[in-house]
Amino acid sequence: MPIEDLMWVEKYRPSDLSELVDQVTIRQKLKQLMEKKEQLPHLLFAGPPGSGKTTTAMILAKQILGEHWRDYTLSLNASDERGIDVVRERIKTFARFADRRVGIPFRLAILDECDEMTNDGQTALRRIMEENSEHTRFVLICNYSSGIIEPLQSRCVIFRFKRLDEASVTEHLASIAKKEKLKHSGDAAFGAIYEATQGDLRQAINLMQAASASGEITSESVNSVSGASVKARVFEIIGLALDGDFDAARTKMVELTRVYGIPERDFLRFANEALGSLKVPDMAKAISILAEYDYRLVQGSQPELQLTAMLAQLSAIGKKAE
Ligand SMILES: Nc1ncnc2c1ncn2[C@@H]1O[C@H](COP(=O)(O)OP(=O)(O)OP(=O)(O)O)[C@@H](O)[C@H]1O
Ligand SMILES: [Mg+2]
Repeated sequence: MPIEDLMWVEKYRPSDLSELVDQVTIRQKLKQLMEKKEQLPHLLFAGPPGSGKTTTAMILAKQILGEHWRDYTLSLNASDERGIDVVRERIKTFARFADRRVGIPFRLAILDECDEMTNDGQTALRRIMEENSEHTRFVLICNYSSGIIEPLQSRCVIFRFKRLDEASVTEHLASIAKKEKLKHSGDAAFGAIYEATQGDLRQAINLMQAASASGEITSESVNSVSGASVKARVFEIIGLALDGDFDAARTKMVELTRVYGIPERDFLRFANEALGSLKVPDMAKAISILAEYDYRLVQGSQPELQLTAMLAQLSAIGKKAE
C-alpha cells in the first residue's frame, strides 16, 4: 500500500474539480476560467483550514499542465522563516527553466500561508510576481484575505472558500466509510464528528480514521478521541483542583498527558479556558499561577512535574476558600 493511502485525507483527496465537496461557486468560476487556460490570471484562494484550497490548486495544476504537472509547479510555504529572499531565489531559478514544451502555457507557483508574510515580504512578492509574470502564474493561498496587502489582492482573482456545511461533510464521511467498509452508527456518529470539527474536512476525516481504530464509529468512539473530550477532561481536572482535591486532579492529569499524549501547553490553554467558565475563589491568583507555569513550560522544565506543582497551587486556593 502506498504511504499516502495510510492516511485517508490523502487517499480520498479529490483529483478532479467534480469530486470537490461543496464549494459550488468556486467550481463554477474555475470551470469558466479553464475554458481559456492560457489566459489564466493570478489567483488568490482564501478560506478556513481543511476547506479544499491546496487540493484545488493541485487539481488546477494537473488540468493546466497535464501529466508532468509536478515538473512545472513550485509549491512553497510563503511564511517560511528563511524569508522572502529564499522565495525570490526559488521562483527565479524555477522560472529560468524556460523550456516551454508544447501545451505548457506557463509555470505555476503555489504559495501557501501568504497572510503570514510580513508587509515588506508581501511588497517584495508583488515585485516578484511582476518580474516573472510572463512565464509564471501565481496561486496565493491564505486563511484571511484581510491579511493580504491591497496591491497583491488587486493583482489576483479572489476565490473565497467557505467552511463546509454539515450535510456535505456527512455525505463525504459516509462515502469514505462505505469504501473502507466501516461499521458506524450513521448520523449520530457523523454529527459528533461535525460537532468536534466545525466544517474542517481534513480534521473530520482524521477524526473518523482515529475513531475507527475502536472497530466502530459511534458518537462515543468519536468523543473519546476528539479534542472536545480532551477539553472536557481538562475542565474537570481544573475543577477538582479548585475544589481542593489535589490527588484526584493529579491522577487525572497524569492519565491525560501520558495515555492520551496531549501536549502540556494544550493542557494549559484549556486550563485557561476553564478558569473563564468556572467559579474561581481568587481569579487573579489563579491566572497568575497559570501564567507562571506557562512560562516555565516554555523554558523547557520537566512538564509533568510542573503541571503537578501547578495543580498543587490551584488546590491551595481552593482549600483556602473552604
Ligand atoms: N472541498 C473538499 N472536498 C473534498 N475533500 C476535501 C475538501 N476540503 C478538504 N478536503 C479533504 O481535506 C484534506 C485537506 O484539504 P486541503 O489541503 O485542500 O485543505 P486547505 O483548505 O488547503 O487547508 P489549510 O488551510 O489547512 O492548508 C484533503 O486531502 C481532502 O481529503
Ligand atoms: Mg492548504
